[in-house]
Amino acid sequence: MPSDSPEQTASLPRFGFSTRIGFVLAAAGSAVGLGNIWSFPAQVAENGGAAFVLVYLVLSLLLAYPALVAELMIGRYGQSNPVTALESVPQNPAWRTVTKLTGIVAVLMICLIFSFYSIVGGWLAGFTLAPLFETTGMPSAASWLQTFSPTRNLLLAIIFIALTLGIVNGGVQKGIERWSARLMPLLVLLLVGLIFTVMTQEGAIEGVHHYLIPDFSRINETLIMNALGQSFFSMSLGVGAMMVYGSYLKRNANLPNVALQVCLLDTGIAFLAGLLIIPALFVAMNLGVSIYLPDGHLANNDTLVFEVLPALFNNLGVMGIPIALAFFSLMSIAALTSSISMLEVPVACLTERAGLSRKRASLIVCIGVLAIVAIVIAKFDPLFGAVVSLTTGYAQPIDGLLFCLFAGWLMGRNRKLQEIRKGWPEAEKSLFWKVWPWYIKIICPIMITSIFILQHQS
Ligand code: PHE
Repeated sequence: MPSDSPEQTASLPRFGFSTRIGFVLAAAGSAVGLGNIWSFPAQVAENGGAAFVLVYLVLSLLLAYPALVAELMIGRYGQSNPVTALESVPQNPAWRTVTKLTGIVAVLMICLIFSFYSIVGGWLAGFTLAPLFETTGMPSAASWLQTFSPTRNLLLAIIFIALTLGIVNGGVQKGIERWSARLMPLLVLLLVGLIFTVMTQEGAIEGVHHYLIPDFSRINETLIMNALGQSFFSMSLGVGAMMVYGSYLKRNANLPNVALQVCLLDTGIAFLAGLLIIPALFVAMNLGVSIYLPDGHLANNDTLVFEVLPALFNNLGVMGIPIALAFFSLMSIAALTSSISMLEVPVACLTERAGLSRKRASLIVCIGVLAIVAIVIAKFDPLFGAVVSLTTGYAQPIDGLLFCLFAGWLMGRNRKLQEIRKGWPEAEKSLFWKVWPWYIKIICPIMITSIFILQHQS
């Protein structure tokens, strides 16, 4: 039973990531996903360029980072799946029921995120395959892959889920850690290569200006709330993904330090993605591709990635084909390293709480997720947006807030300190330790709640 006595934790240490860098790459792999490469640049474009970037960076460091440390700490303290780890936080049995229920909600929410993610991940896989079909003389297959239809959506989602399943079945070290270590460097390489390519095109510099020179008059409640939702989504907070990875982290790893590395990698890659996409938008405009919707707004998420950018690639002649291939491979890799963390959460719960084997647990979860995917695809217009908004707009900030409150109020100062000291013996004397416990107890909850209330009033 967990108590405030220093040496006790919920259970014995278990098998996890083999190295610290393996953990950092896997956690950054979870963090870096469609949120960074798809939604962040689109939000920047829609919310007045650099002003959004600035607010996002501030919120990532001031709110998402302390929340990330709290989530990783609960996971490592619990040495188990998020439901059991959350259950081990309070000492009072009544509170245990509350924390356990929050954990169950988080697991259900991450399954919903996995379902909409698989649909988009499938589209990306389709857009990656399309240039290959195009060059091998199968243009009709290429165009089928790029045209919206329920059959295509379902088939590609199945492929995406199967890829995720294949990796997660390999286990923490041989699946998640190994594939994150392979895919993350490739992702950075593709991203940097594409930035250089786009920068040589006419119009790109105008995009860089739009991206980097802030117009402060654009900052309002909606922009702040969007930036908060974006930073929680991007850092995979509030749904147990970081908690389960934290449970696989070695005891001697310095939690605040590895969390900072993950946070910097995540925001750094989002920043680079913006540096690719915003200038690419302006290059497209320069080539005569319309980047505005009929209502006068800038192209939104789906039109941006699935219409504007492909139109840009088409306009680039032969060069367009390898560029399209590189771009959509980049997006698919980013999606895959995130989806494996989504599947790992329910799988860890089922293996540890229901005693199922990893293979059986992951198959059961994937079948369940596929059923949700089929329903969302069948009623795409009302359901897709609703699932995205429920999970990312409500569940993640609210659950993230609850995790901060649990770590802040239900886990004694002594237990928190012991957990942090395992990888950082001098932690007690640090500025971090002077600020962080109060921060997650009071400041983070007040700030998240106020932003939430502001948004829902306006
Ligand atoms: N962080 C991922 C992204 O930016 C999404 C994600 C959310 C992953 C929740 C895991 C859990 O795309």
